[in-house]
Order: sequence, then structure tokens, then C-alpha cells
Amino acid sequence: MPKEGPATAQHAEAKLSQSAVLMASLALKGTANQTGFEMAKTSPLLDSWISAYDGVHPLLDVGCAYGRNVSAAVERLGARWAHADQEGLRVVACDCAQEHLDAVEELRLPGVKTVFGKLPDGFQHLQEMAAECGGFSGILISEVLHFLPGQGIEEAIAKLKGLLAPNGTLCITMFSPESNISGAECPFGQRMREVYAERQAAGDKWPGEGFDMVSILREQKAAVTLDEEAMKCFPSYFHVAYAHQLASALEDYGFKVLLAQEDRHPGHAPHFWHEGKESTQVVAKMDMVLAAIEKLPRPLMLQCTSGNRAGAALLLAQAKALGHNRASASLLAEDLDLKFFTRCSECGPVRDWVLQQLPADNDEAQVSEVRNPGFVIEQLFDAHQGSSTFTYLVGCTQSQEAILIDPVLGLETRDLALADELGFKAGDEKKGRPLRQRLKAAG
Ligand SMILES: C[S@@+](CC[C@H](N)C(=O)[O-])C[C@H]1O[C@@H](n2cnc3c(N)ncnc32)[C@H](O)[C@@H]1O
Repeated sequence: MPKEGPATAQHAEAKLSQSAVLMASLALKGTANQTGFEMAKTSPLLDSWISAYDGVHPLLDVGCAYGRNVSAAVERLGARWAHADQEGLRVVACDCAQEHLDAVEELRLPGVKTVFGKLPDGFQHLQEMAAECGGFSGILISEVLHFLPGQGIEEAIAKLKGLLAPNGTLCITMFSPESNISGAECPFGQRMREVYAERQAAGDKWPGEGFDMVSILREQKAAVTLDEEAMKCFPSYFHVAYAHQLASALEDYGFKVLLAQEDRHPGHAPHFWHEGKESTQVVAKMDMVLAAIEKLPRPLMLQCTSGNRAGAALLLAQAKALGHNRASASLLAEDLDLKFFTRCSECGPVRDWVLQQLPADNDEAQVSEVRNPGFVIEQLFDAHQGSSTFTYLVGCTQSQEAILIDPVLGLETRDLALADELGFKAGDEKKGRPLRQRLKAAG
């Protein structure tokens, strides 16, 4: 009889392929659709995702696999929202593999619904669910975006934005170009980084897209031998991205990025690890004001009693649309003499708030663009009728259409004369009501 002890254990272990030992010991569960493995531990962004829950709008996990993150959320929310209706919907588990959704259903988790959804365009059921529940307070996309090309990631971001509740949070993790796939001296990882650098130098927007893991792993002599069972789970398409790339794509769609880093993912197999930079992690929030403005029908009229809030929303929307930083937005507000910015000492906090929403970076190029922003804003003041109202005329120089913000009843002639003087059409009958009618309705 061989003696039990460390030497025999080592021997027995050596007989198994290294990857089988690794996958089994880590409880890495292969996906049913060749999209890698469910992570051995919950997402490093689990806390950010769960703390986004507002008690009303459910959380959403896109690419939920067998439900590890969903189960953790249910457990945590159960403690935090113990008083809430147990029947209420709290977490939605979404995946593009029915086998995964069936596995989550079998867990019979309270407050959980499953739904089929595939990024970037198989969104129909998710959109219906979002419409029913008023959007999701937090969306987790953990280890999914690396199956999409850059264009697909951008389309997914645009659609996910529409699924979020106002002020909702998006949490994303994916592989960074720093990850290794097969051991510390991983030729695949090294090659990936070289190709990435070459493509970046050539000006590619997404230099990490389209690696064929399977053929590269087979071609190269990987430091950890992967057995056939494990190989079946690896995707032939793989996309790696740094946090700053994902962050800037999110900002392009109006998100405010709260966290963008490369860090360790404790649920990855250790042979993927590389200097603690192998996982790209981004948390972003949808700005409530901008999201609301974007969802409103056009032409858009912003109205408030004093013109302060409307002016702030207007500046924020224009500054974001034109990519202005704080310095250039300030210049724009001063040029337009927006009351909340230049004349109202008690509006200081509003001005500060607007500026905080914009990048601090002092970019001269952006400042110069302010002089020709593609639109005209004129501020009018009602000193005659005694309402002390500030009215704004906002016109697009390209379409030559204009809208009025905060018009005063009885001052239509003044407003329309200004629109005429600046060369704006009095409205396009085909697209909507003419300025004259809109003015009447608003007044
Ligand atoms: C690598 S696993 C990650 C599972 C889990 N999110 C985690 O962090 O452990 C990828 C999961 O995303 C799903 N998936 C892959 N591509 C997808 C897509 N385009 N849309 C939605 N889900 C997708 C797969 O079915 C699989 O469940």
C-alpha cells in the first residue's frame, strides 16, 4: 500500500492535467455556449452593483451564467430589505444561453426573474421588462463584453443606457490586455500585448478586439496545458480593453465614470493573473438630468419659475453635447449671460453643481470652439409686464429652428420678432407645431 502523504498527493495531482486540477479546485464552471467560465468568485464590483439598488427599481445581471452574482445579491438584499415585499421583483438575471437561465430558475431565488437577452441587439425582452419596472437601478455586466467587437460594445452601451432608471449605475468588468491566459510566462498574453501596441500605434480605436484564443492557445506552447474539456469552453473570439477605453466610450454616451481601473479579479483562475492588472473594472452612472432631457420629445421646452434650473439644465446639456470642459462651459455661460451663472449670487451652488458634472481638464481647443457652437441662445427679460421672467430663445444654426424657454404670456410679439431678426423659421409644420403655436400652448 502506498503511504498517504504529501509526496503521494503530489504524484496523484501530477497525473491529472494541470488545467483539470485548476478548474476543479477553483470551482470554475464552463459555460454551455463556449463563452468561457463562470467566475469562481463573485464580481469585484458586487458591492457597487448591490448598493445601486434603490428599493424600487430592480438590479439586472447581464450574462448571469449560473447565477453566482445574482444569488449573492439576493442574499445581501434579503438582509438589507427584509421589510420589503418578498414577492417583489428585486433582481433580473439575463443571459443569451437558455441552459444558464434554466439553472438560475432551478435555484428558486426569491424576487428573481430570468429573461433572455443578447448584447448588443437581442434586447427586446429586456426592454419590455425595463418598461414594466421603470428601468434598473444597477446593471452588472461581468466578463461579457470581451465577446463583442468595439462597435458592438458601443451599441450595447447605447442600449443599456435606455434600460437604466434615472440615476442608475452600470458596473462592467472584462479582461484587460494585461491578463495572461496560460501561466505567468504566458506567450499568449505577451503576444496579445504586442499586437495591441501595434494596432494602437496604427490608430485603432479598439486595438484589443478579435483575438482567437483557441487557435493561439493551440499554436503556442502554453505554460499551463489545457485539456480538451477546458478548451471546449474557450471562445474563438476575444476582446480585451483597458479601463480608460471603456470609460471614454461610456462618457461618449453621457455616462459619468466613477471608477476606471485595472485590478485583480479574485474569481479568475490564478494563471490569468498578471501584476494585479488583469481585470478591467468600470463603474459609471447615468446623469439623471441629462438622461431625462434626452428622453423627452423634441422640440424640447425647459420651463421653471425663475429660469435658474432651466438655464442650468440647458448649459449642462449643451456643454456635454459639445464636449466642453469646465473652463469652456464657463465661457459659454458668460457669453450667453445665463442668469443662474452670472447674475444670481444665491445660485452659486447650482453653478458649482453644473461645473462638477463636467471634466476639469483645461483644454484650449475646446475653449475656442465655444465661439461657434452651432447654436444661438438669447436671453430676454420681462421688465414691462412685471413678471421679472427670463426667457431664453435657443436656435439651431443648421436647421434654423428655434425653441423658447420660459415664454411670458403677452410677450409673443417680442419673442417672435427676435426669432425673425435672427433668421429662424417660425417652426416646421411637418415636424411639429410652429413656434407661434408652441408659444401659445406654453404661455
Ligand atoms: C465568462 S461568463 C461570465 C459569467 C458571470 N457574469 C461571471 O462574472 O462569472 C459569460 C456569460 O455571458 C453570457 N454572454 C456571452 N455573450 C453574451 C451576450 N452577447 N449577451 C448576453 N450574455 C452573453 C454567457 O452566456 C455567459 O453566461
